[in-house]
Amino acid sequence: MINTKVINNLSKKEYELFREFADKHEGENNHDTAEEVKLNFFSKAKKIVFAKIDGELVGAANIGYRTINFDGENIYIGTIGGVVTHTDYRRMGVATKVMERVIEEMKEDKADVSLLCTDIPKLKGLYGIVGFVPLGKKYFFVDKNGEIREEKCGMMATVCSK
Ligand SMILES: CC(C)(COP(=O)(O)OP(=O)(O)OC[C@H]1O[C@@H](n2cnc3c(N)ncnc32)[C@H](O)[C@@H]1OP(=O)(O)O)[C@@H](O)C(=O)NCCC(=O)NCCS
Repeated sequence: MINTKVINNLSKKEYELFREFADKHEGENNHDTAEEVKLNFFSKAKKIVFAKIDGELVGAANIGYRTINFDGENIYIGTIGGVVTHTDYRRMGVATKVMERVIEEMKEDKADVSLLCTDIPKLKGLYGIVGFVPLGKKYFFVDKNGEIREEKCGMMATVCSK
């Protein structure tokens, strides 16, 4: 059985546990390395969802939040990073469980919508299970250094917004 747990008020130690797990299991092609996170990522992790099977850590993802103003309206966006499953536990529904928990958590936190960045041709099925659809256009964000960055990998889901 897959159990999920949300860590609020992240301590440095918990974040390091997450990074260690992610660096070990996400593979070399993933851009989401510790260095990239430090330099580029636009929302700091506020919470982490961990998944365990028989007490072993098998999956994780982090949640961040950011408010943007769109057409004069404030929109509270839940962001998702570092979705990763232990290499020995893939295709068993771990990431699906983690994503379901992520969405539940964002509902409690009253996010309007959620945004993530992924390899859409490969993984749109995974995120589609919990309601994400390809954004279909570029999006921009300001990184930690105040620079504007452009991404084409966006998928979005409604959370509290209709
Ligand atoms: C992507 C990843 C998180 C999927 O984790 P998982 O626990 O194996 O995913 P699930 O078992 O919940 O998969 C659910 C569905 O998602 C889709 N899916 C999952 N992995 C997939 C893959 N590698 N390629 C294509 N579709 C995939 C499938 O539709 C799958 O259902 P199925 O097994 O019945 O076909 C995992 O392969 C991983 O950690 N990869 C390295 C890091 C990474 O790329 N993370 C995503 C960053 S955006």
